[in-house]
Amino acid sequence: MIIAPSLLASDHARFGREAVRVTEAGADWLHLDVMDGHFVPNISFGPQVVAALRPLTKIFFDAHLMCSKPQILLEPFAKAGADQIIVHVELGDQIPSLLWKIRALGKKVGLAVNPPTAISAVQPYLDQIDLLLVMTVNPGFGGQSFIHECLPKIQQAEAWRRERQGSYRIEVDGGINLLTAAECARAGADTFVAGTSLFGQPSLKRAIRQMRKIINENDPALADLKV
Ligand code: DX5
Ligand code: ZN
Repeated sequence: MIIAPSLLASDHARFGREAVRVTEAGADWLHLDVMDGHFVPNISFGPQVVAALRPLTKIFFDAHLMCSKPQILLEPFAKAGADQIIVHVELGDQIPSLLWKIRALGKKVGLAVNPPTAISAVQPYLDQIDLLLVMTVNPGFGGQSFIHECLPKIQQAEAWRRERQGSYRIEVDGGINLLTAAECARAGADTFVAGTSLFGQPSLKRAIRQMRKIINENDPALADLKV
């Protein structure tokens, strides 16, 4: 299981220190929410911020591009030190070339699907990706409530993975706290982005440890072993 705190919920005046704090708190990845003010109604940060953070930590950088024109950003984010780049399936026709370009840049390939978009939209790409991001809020802002209607999409993604012996990770993002992380784990998610629920705690380390424990307790694969 992977826990990926989202930098979006950290102190924006101290991104460097926050990235180090996430690393020292025992997180697996750092989730980087990139918003362009067009694909989503908010702006966050760009490749220069990521490049400035890169020398401070070795943690895996999970870059989530909520952008209308990711093609102009793939190379800058790859050079800035992103380890994985996620683009949105809502971009339609652009997807095959975007996935190909991310792979050609030597990065892990992620594909995201928004709550209103049918999960069938990602099906043609499942053997080309390292990670499927099932959004559990409408992207743009941290601190929103988890949308329960997204749970069947996680189950479907897990069923396809099992049937095809696929190896892509299933990531969830938006409104993830101890309760919703448990629900997502039971549905088949293995990679958990959390912003508000982790950064809102006095001890990030303790918050990550608690979330890890809850996810383990709700992991269906581990439940089978216990029987
Ligand atoms: C939503 C972003 C999320 C967000 C999650 O647009 O993609 O990564 O930061 O934040 P919380 O955990 O606060 O919902
Ligand atoms: Zn995100």
